[in-house]
Amino acid sequence: MKTLLVGYTASDLFERGKRDVTVKWLTEDVTCHTLDIYHRHAIEKMHHAKAICSPHLPEGPWDVIKFRTGPKLMSGELALSLLQEIAQLLGGDLKAPRFQLDYVGKERDRNDFLDKIKDDPTRVRDFAATWQASVPGGPKLTFTSYPGCFCHRRQDDGGLALAEVVSMELAVTAPVREDTDGTVRLLDMGCGCGLVGLLIASRLQTCSSTYNLNLTLVDSHTRAVEAAVKNAADQGVDAEVILSDNGTPARMDGTFDVFVGNPPYYSDYRIADVFLETAKRALKPGGVCYTVCKNAAGLEPVQKRYFPEVEIIKRRGYAVLKSVKRDGCD
Ligand SMILES: C[S@@+](CC[C@H](N)C(=O)[O-])C[C@H]1O[C@@H](n2cnc3c(N)ncnc32)[C@H](O)[C@@H]1O
Repeated sequence: MKTLLVGYTASDLFERGKRDVTVKWLTEDVTCHTLDIYHRHAIEKMHHAKAICSPHLPEGPWDVIKFRTGPKLMSGELALSLLQEIAQLLGGDLKAPRFQLDYVGKERDRNDFLDKIKDDPTRVRDFAATWQASVPGGPKLTFTSYPGCFCHRRQDDGGLALAEVVSMELAVTAPVREDTDGTVRLLDMGCGCGLVGLLIASRLQTCSSTYNLNLTLVDSHTRAVEAAVKNAADQGVDAEVILSDNGTPARMDGTFDVFVGNPPYYSDYRIADVFLETAKRALKPGGVCYTVCKNAAGLEPVQKRYFPEVEIIKRRGYAVLKSVKRDGCD
């Protein structure tokens, strides 16, 4: 029995005795699909289990597909896009035992959810969205986003504030050191669909006599990477896009001039910490780190663990935290 699990995390799978999945996991040919490489690593770490991380569900054939979802677990649009892919893989047969919906929520919402594709399960709806964003002095850019990728259907104001501050500083005050060959290496960690890095790149293209930008975009979510690759190509930007949840130590090697990050702030700044640790490792001495958050009070002490001095720049109701990596900092 080849079984595909969709929407499960490591803690769903291995809370022994609580979920039937735990037992089946160990006895059957089960593959777990994840959209985020962090979840894949967590599953593999706990049981050396089979996990596939990709923006779309893997081709079967699958005898059984189990799907864990609900309003608190993922957005309605992401749930629907995954349900549609499951329906495609099962040839439209969404009946038990081939399809099992592990719905976390009210029975009525579960039925409404299934009703959405009941009449035509194999119809392919396009959930991609396009929208525009720009920074002062830069062109209006069109971005594509997908359900699950941050942000979907709209720009994030925190990301926009970060892009505005950094593009203004790089275009006007040139804070990076003058002993470079004119090429600025910029790392956008947690790039989502590429909003921040690509807006900065577009702004600097309008003053290209000053800088030649070399852009690296990193995210742990496969749909973010998928969107960032498309957006960079559509905008004619030659960016390197990396799928990673750990700051790819081998690549973040003290050669970057600028780091930008709009980290997620759940889990008590644990992820912001990963971002800042990466920033310190990635930047060369004199390189500049910019992060953004709603309220600087929470992030500032975390940033100070890596960079002793932090300047706070207010923009759009957000705080951009700027630090310079000092010479000799290890
Ligand atoms: C708040 S969003 C910012 C997205 C984009 N930079 C913007 O401003 O619109 C945070 C992003 O960080 C990504 N992320 C979370 N943990 C990560 C990690 N450990 N490594 C890389 N990216 C991560 C998420 O997938 C998400 O795309």
